[in-house]
Amino acid sequence: MKKFRILIINLHGLLKGSGLEIGRDADNGGQTRYVFELAEYLSRDRHIAHVHLMTRLIDDPQLSDEYSLPIEIVNDKLDIRRIAFAGKKYRLKEDLWDHLDQFVANAHKHLKKYNILPDFIHSHYADAGYASCELASLLKVPFAHTGHSLGIAKKEKLEAMGLSKDEGEKKFKFSKRIAAEDETLKRAKFIVTSTSQELETYEKYSNYSAATFKILAPGTDTEKFIPYYQTYPDQDVPEEELQRKYWVADYIEKFLANPNKPGILSLSRPDRRKNLHTLIEAYGKDKELQSLANLIIFAGIRKDIEKMPESEREVLIEILLLMDKYNLYGKLAIPKKHDVENEVATIYRYCAEKRGVFVNLTLHENFGLTLIEAGSTGLPVVATKNGGPSEIIPKCKNGVLVDPLNYSEINQAIKRILTDEEKWKDYSNQGIINVQKHYSWGNHVKTYVKWVREAVESHEKTVEDSRVKLKGIGKLFASDIDGTLISEEHDHAGLEELITLINSRPADLAIALASGRSINLVLKVIEEFQLPLPDFLVCAVGSQIYYRHNHDFRLDRGWSSYLDKDWNRQEILRRLRSLDWLDLQEDEAQNPHKVSYYIKDETFKSEQFDAVLGKYRSMISVIYSHNLFLDILPRRASKGKALKYICRKWSIPSHDLYTAGDSGNDLDMLVGSGKGIIVSNHAPELRDIPTRKNLFRSTKPAAAGILEGLRHYGIF
Ligand code: GLC
Ligand code: MG
Repeated sequence: MKKFRILIINLHGLLKGSGLEIGRDADNGGQTRYVFELAEYLSRDRHIAHVHLMTRLIDDPQLSDEYSLPIEIVNDKLDIRRIAFAGKKYRLKEDLWDHLDQFVANAHKHLKKYNILPDFIHSHYADAGYASCELASLLKVPFAHTGHSLGIAKKEKLEAMGLSKDEGEKKFKFSKRIAAEDETLKRAKFIVTSTSQELETYEKYSNYSAATFKILAPGTDTEKFIPYYQTYPDQDVPEEELQRKYWVADYIEKFLANPNKPGILSLSRPDRRKNLHTLIEAYGKDKELQSLANLIIFAGIRKDIEKMPESEREVLIEILLLMDKYNLYGKLAIPKKHDVENEVATIYRYCAEKRGVFVNLTLHENFGLTLIEAGSTGLPVVATKNGGPSEIIPKCKNGVLVDPLNYSEINQAIKRILTDEEKWKDYSNQGIINVQKHYSWGNHVKTYVKWVREAVESHEKTVEDSRVKLKGIGKLFASDIDGTLISEEHDHAGLEELITLINSRPADLAIALASGRSINLVLKVIEEFQLPLPDFLVCAVGSQIYYRHNHDFRLDRGWSSYLDKDWNRQEILRRLRSLDWLDLQEDEAQNPHKVSYYIKDETFKSEQFDAVLGKYRSMISVIYSHNLFLDILPRRASKGKALKYICRKWSIPSHDLYTAGDSGNDLDMLVGSGKGIIVSNHAPELRDIPTRKNLFRSTKPAAAGILEGLRHYGIF
């Protein structure tokens, strides 16, 4: 069976093989861990040939220099490939949005240089989703995506809390993020969500119904979260684990008068929604519970509470005040720090050994990984019934769901587990077994690889189909629109007949529209005149190419980045400002690779023009038409060059390119290596083009002239 080479893209946060920095900041949390563990477990699967984990290269004196290694080998089937973009310094994800095209270009180069062609790409989070849409189409491979969190939900939440639209845009780049998420929904072969509730949060996206969703919970590192009773396989407990055990006991026990009692454990960031105060109050009000067990709360890492962000400070101060209010000295442990990445498993095991219980009363929990990890060590749980836990607990059977605001329900559930030994044992054993069964990475990977296989196979089939279709294309007819295909002055002569013929054209003939108009204006005219949907669009005088995919037109980004060479739009605008005989056209006529003017008095003063441009003159194409329009494009752009590019890309012989036009902006496509048709109503600048073999001058205007030309060439 085919083995797969998988490219995983995760652009923000910090990834390295020698240990993650979980908890460092908002970009180094659950997602980072999820992606790294997935990559690792995936690389161990026998159906996987190789996993490349692609991320950003960061060369920042504040950080470990491991992040500046372009290639890090993690194991013989897993490497991390770091691509430089957006500078060298570490940046949070919100600051990467403007640099994603740079990532795509550099990643593409890297893959070419190392001769890597993945069978499948998987992106994590919207920024990587954006990049995957591009890379997957450049490499012509399928991809899948995991959102991790969604822009619309975050935007709505923050706006409800008073954030203005402008601030949201500035700080979080919501419009870019949401657009990327929407595009990804449409283009990915499938989208992975952790739960069915997470799936529902996608409903607000316009491409929701175009997407294919698959639900698959993240795996748990069951080798790390081993059962409390299990010593290491070779009975030889590593020294670090002994040390961890010692220090975990030390952090906790120094708070407690009677450390031998079972512990009620909670472990979360100091976030109001985690609802820690309710747990302390429930415990504080219940003397019986206090005599049964200690309360152990790990609420993040703190040094100086006064210097912490306000939201965290408030939560921590409240905890301390509640401890005082209910006089919980000697009963409540609130350790100041722990090693988030390495000690959590030890903490669960410590509590399980003492027959304790893990409690998570978050008001709404998106997933609830802690419940699975606790379960995997054999520590029973009491969990909020809101969100992910209501899917996890029925599967793992490792505890009880409660209303996170109902004191008596919470206390009853905790007491029952602490006092009924059979119950405790049952929850503990079930947790260990069922987490293995439902939430281990081993199982996750198995299901995932099956989906990858299906996706790759169906992709190969469609590629084959479209190759057959494209192979069938032998000829391309490209027409200008204004003055050529349509002409009011000539009552759109011949248009209807031409449309009918094109609609029933032979299968080997592809069609393109090549216009000075922007894409929006081209689409408008297609709609207005009910023109046949072309296979390609050359818009804005060749500064943009689109190709059709069903009813959509997709920008050919390869063409756009090819045009970047030697192009300095700002400088051209700046220099031409001094010419008072030029008037800038409307915004709609401008684009990143086109600057267009009107010429005021019908004379193009080429000497002045050349003088102000200086050395920039040789870097641009200047296209003058109808004694009125002046288009300035990158040197590499024009209608003719864009068509040449299309022919090369789709293997259409250049002598089988047929073009029709009426003005100066059509000139280079008319006299290229294909066959040109000049309609009789052409602009003055086409009057004196020397006669040549493959240039036909129609006697008729507009569409009627096109027809005459195509008949002349034997197309119809
Ligand atoms: C179209 C475009 C305009 C351009 C002209 C000539 O009218 O909208 O920007 O200058 O064609 O190419
Ligand atoms: Mg025209």
